[in-house]
Amino acid sequence: MMYDFQTRINREGAGSFKWDSMQAANPEVSSNVVPLSIADMEFVNAPEIKKGLQKYLETAVLGYQAAYPSFIEAVVDWQEKRYGWSIQSDWLVDANNVVSAIYAAVQAFTEEDDGVIIFRPSYPPFGNAIDVNNRIEVGIPLLNDEGYYTIDFDKFEKAAAEPNNKMLILCNPHNPVGRVWTKEELKKIAEISVKHNLLVVSDEIWRDFTMPGYEYTPLATVNDELASSLMTCTSTSKSFNLAGLKLASIIIKDEKLREKFQAELELMRGGVVGPLAYKGVELAYTKAEPWLDEVVKVIDTNQNLVHDFFKEKYPKIKAPKIEGTYVQWVDFNGIGMSDEERINFLEQEAEFFTDHGIKFGEEGCGYERINLALPTEILRESLERLVDALKEYEQV
Ligand SMILES: Cc1ncc(COP(=O)(O)O)c(C=O)c1O
Repeated sequence: MMYDFQTRINREGAGSFKWDSMQAANPEVSSNVVPLSIADMEFVNAPEIKKGLQKYLETAVLGYQAAYPSFIEAVVDWQEKRYGWSIQSDWLVDANNVVSAIYAAVQAFTEEDDGVIIFRPSYPPFGNAIDVNNRIEVGIPLLNDEGYYTIDFDKFEKAAAEPNNKMLILCNPHNPVGRVWTKEELKKIAEISVKHNLLVVSDEIWRDFTMPGYEYTPLATVNDELASSLMTCTSTSKSFNLAGLKLASIIIKDEKLREKFQAELELMRGGVVGPLAYKGVELAYTKAEPWLDEVVKVIDTNQNLVHDFFKEKYPKIKAPKIEGTYVQWVDFNGIGMSDEERINFLEQEAEFFTDHGIKFGEEGCGYERINLALPTEILRESLERLVDALKEYEQV
């Protein structure tokens, strides 16, 4: 490995959401424990980005700033180089983050009481964006065949055909279940959406984490007819651990749709981006790809570790392998605790801090989502601590 993905970092007291929520859940937590919840990485940023920003700061003027040619070129080139997706620079809209872009999309493209379809379990802000805007959530449970999730196309088509349902928010690759939707699945989604005039918001923030042997396909590339009703959300916040920079690149080919979205974003002042964000994202896309490629290998090692560890040491817990993302959706139903008992046990006894499945909808009952973006040895320690605590609990 060219980069260091094994050093333990300590973000205690630094305002990290993940570390602060661990402290809040268990103020007595042991000092060596690293949380496995909220999806950012326990890795320092790529040296290419850090050094590049240092150099930039020597002469930069940190004033009001818009996108500039080398930034735009970096974003456009990434789509082409990694995914063979040719986009034009004027399709890009800068937003502060993907979540605020999704909120703006719900407001821009639907009316109060319109139905918005999501596949559950689902990343919680999708449901929140629907609820707080007084739209109606149409949650379609994914089909779960022993941990392998697929879309219930019959239910989806029925929901799409319902005239009140106007939008689909898709997550590809899917957080939390870790599927990378195949080209065939995406074609079906696109076909149904076009047929029933659904506006599609495709959140593809996790695409750079596609595990070896799987292929991510941008939804935009599978069906030309969908272009007039599609918005794709991309960002470096997951890929390069840059969530704190606050810049997402939203890609909308259709001019009318784009203008409508921009107008809504403007109302929220949701696309005002700073110079360090532009430069950081430009550096990520142009200089830090080798770092990302190594992180993906670490994630793959870590997901195999989690899968094999439970299989060998504690088979009541099941951790199917993931196809994409850096979170693993782990089935704790076999341990025979209610959600409340399990959450209390994990946080207070096992010092194992994860995102609780119930946050992702009722389909997440009995599940925990484990963040895999941390040094492998710390992950192993955490798993051992959990299984030791479970064995002790069983003896009492
Ligand atoms: C599916 C999905 N979309 C969006 C986000 C957050 O993106 P941002 O920080 O750009 O709002 C996450 C973070 O975990 C996510 O899982």
